This record gives sequence, C-alpha cells and structure tokens, in this order.
Amino acid sequence: MFASTAFFGFTFLLFLLSSGVDAHGYVQEVAIGGNTYPGWDPNIDPYASPAVSRVIRKIPNDGPVLDIHDASLACNVGGEQGAGLVAEAEAGSQVKFTMIRWPDDHLGPVSHYMASCNGDCKQFDTSDAQWFKVDEAGYDNGVWASTTLIKDNLSSTMTIPAALKPGEYLIRHEIVALHDANQPQYYPSCAQVKVTGSGTQTPPSSDLVKIPGVYDSFKWPDIWSDSFHSFTIPGPKVAFSNSGSGTNNAAPEPPAASPSKASPSTAASSSHIPTASHSGAVSSATPSSSPVFPPSSAPTGKCHSRMVKRRKSAQRSVQGHAALNVRRQH
Ligand SMILES: *[C@@H]1O[C@H](CO)[C@@H](O)[C@H](O)[C@H]1NC(C)=O
Repeated sequence: MFASTAFFGFTFLLFLLSSGVDAHGYVQEVAIGGNTYPGWDPNIDPYASPAVSRVIRKIPNDGPVLDIHDASLACNVGGEQGAGLVAEAEAGSQVKFTMIRWPDDHLGPVSHYMASCNGDCKQFDTSDAQWFKVDEAGYDNGVWASTTLIKDNLSSTMTIPAALKPGEYLIRHEIVALHDANQPQYYPSCAQVKVTGSGTQTPPSSDLVKIPGVYDSFKWPDIWSDSFHSFTIPGPKVAFSNSGSGTNNAAPEPPAASPSKASPSTAASSSHIPTASHSGAVSSATPSSSPVFPPSSAPTGKCHSRMVKRRKSAQRSVQGHAALNVRRQH
C-alpha cells in the first residue's frame, strides 16, 4: 500500500517535472486598447491552416535570444518581419503583456521600448527601427522585476506615452534573465499597435537607440556575487519621463553610434511595491487556464541554467526511486 502510494506520488512528480517545468516563457496574450489578443503560440501557430494573424510578432519557441549583436535581439527570431494584425490604442492607455509562464529563478529586469514603424507595421523590418524606452524595472528593494511579474499574474503593464504622436508603433516587451552570470538571456517580444489620440511628440534623437546595439558596451552584473547590491538598468533614459523631453512634430534623427547611457531607474522604483521574494516553483506560477503541452511539441530554447541542472538531477533521483518502487511492487 505504502509502496504504491509512493509510486503514484513519484509518478505524479515525474509528470510535473516533464511537463510545465521544462520551459522558459513567452507572451501568451496582450491587452491593448480594451481588447485582448493572443500572442504568437510557437507550438500551434506555425502549423495553423489557414494561417493565423497576430498582433504579436513571431517567436520560434519559449527560449532566449543569446547574441546581443543578432537582429533577433529586437523582436525575437522571426520577429524582424511584420505580423498580420495591428491593434489600436489611444496614447496614454495601458498595454498589458502576460507570459504563459516564467521560471522564478530567471531573475532580471523587465523593460518596454517602442519604435515608430514609419507607416505600416505589417511591412516594417526591425533593422530600420529607432527605439525609445518607455519604462524599465530592475532590482528594487531586493526584488527583481521578473519576480514582480510572476506575482502580478505573470504580467507587466506599460503605458503608451500620452504625448506620443499618432501612428503605428512596435511595442517591445523584454525580460533579461541574469541567473547565468556568464550568459544573459534576452526574451524580447513585439506587438504592433496603431496609436491614436491627440499627441504631438516624438522622442528626441538622444533618446533613440538601435537594437541590436543597445547592450553593446554594457557589462551585466553577476547577481550572485557577494558584492552585488544594486543594479542600474542599461539602455537610454526613459523617454517622455519629464516634460519637455519630446520634440514637437520633429522627424527623429539617426541615433548616436554608441548608445550606452545608463540612468537611475527612477521611473521603475516608484511603480514597484517591495514584497517578500516569491518562492514557488515555476509550475505554481503557471495560470490554471494555460494549456500543458507535451514536452516534444515544440523546439525548446537553449538554457544552461542552474535550474536545468537541478531539474536533471532531481529527475534522475525521481526515476531511481520510481524504478525502485516498480521493483518493490513485483
Ligand atoms: C491578478 O489577478 C487577481 C485575481 O484575478 C487580480 O485581483 C489582480 O488585480 C491581478 N493583478 C494584476 C497585477 O493584474
């Protein structure tokens, strides 16, 4: 009796280990202008017939972009080119990105950028994009923005600057996971949005950066080091963060060659309430409504994290126990 209960328990644990945990994350849905749009689902959408149109640009899987010089740093692999839909939202309104899941040891900052599509976002290639930062959240009172995202039902919300001139824009959601001190992991995702309203401003050229390019001269910290206590979020300062930073009706000039200005995260600090660190496993952060995919249904992104190592050794030990219990039953 004990043996079979234990066997069931281990089997169940094995199921948990092999399903929801074996993953990183991507944007599952985005709320824009009062509508909620599904993200690009890498498990289903590439195979959909007829083809699906999304406001979120394509991603290949739930894994990270690892090369800061690659074009995919902007909007992920495949996101360089346009998606089929453009959402509509008024300047000053909120846009909420919700991840399908996020591993709680993938600690790091969460930022939002925007770039004008110079017209139709569906036709816009990110190599032409000049990005401005809309908000940023890093390490505040000992809590990483990625942890706050998990606590906020796996979501992060940005506000389209109220002064922004109408037009089509990309909104770029980015989580950078810093758990591997030798290899930061970038998780970018871009939504196509037609901004409406009566705004008149575009950011000055000093607030514009190229992506890739924005992280070229930045040294990410080792967050596990004893000397790590604070974190300055890289990239340009937040555009529109003080009055007069916008430029009326001016066409943006090309960005500076080496945009590496760092700025204190004042915008982020004020929007974050310090909380106790979230300690649940990744599966507990997964919303109950989210589908559980078989592990083999999609290519999985690269991640050589401590978590993967932990999981592998846990799996080995669980398999060992399970095998033991099978033998006991017989
Ligand atoms: C998270 O979900 C709860 C329950 O639906 C809701 O009350 C809360 O406002 C949500 N938080 C965020 C940040 O969306």
